[in-house]
Amino acid sequence: MAKTAVKMKGAAKVSRREALRKGLFWACWGVFIGFAGMLGVSIVRFVYPRIVWEPSSLFKIGKPDEYDVGSVSIIEGRKVFLVRVNEGFYALSAICTHLGCQPIWEEDNQIFMCPCHGGRFYKDGINFAGPPPRPLPRYYMKFAPDGRMMVDKSKEVRMDFILTV
Ligand code: FES
Repeated sequence: MAKTAVKMKGAAKVSRREALRKGLFWACWGVFIGFAGMLGVSIVRFVYPRIVWEPSSLFKIGKPDEYDVGSVSIIEGRKVFLVRVNEGFYALSAICTHLGCQPIWEEDNQIFMCPCHGGRFYKDGINFAGPPPRPLPRYYMKFAPDGRMMVDKSKEVRMDFILTV
């Protein structure tokens, strides 16, 4: 009787060891699969990095005769105001220098008014009321070979820059 119990005890020991071995085996596979998965994700991220595609900072906006003298136009999708004056054109950023809202051109008052906190800018982009700390940046402009005007948002210019026509 005592011999059987020992055998059973031995059989239980073997089975526990076997279970541990299997557990370790599957744990190793789990670690390996997890590592391979992370490696695969890293490779995919390397081949297809997260990139935010933005439109080019240099773009065409049309010919001078498309704009009336004295007009202020918003260039859709570019966040740029195009101002036509007697001498030519200038392009202003349509992003408020306070916290980045888009100012609105008020034709009646001839000013840009920011709807967020009441910032105000003269037609030339100079800030004169409210919290904006700086004027609206003015962007470089030039003519393309086809006669259309171009704005380059990557180049800020002095506040007296005008593309003469
Ligand atoms: S964002 Fe324009 S005044 Fe605050």
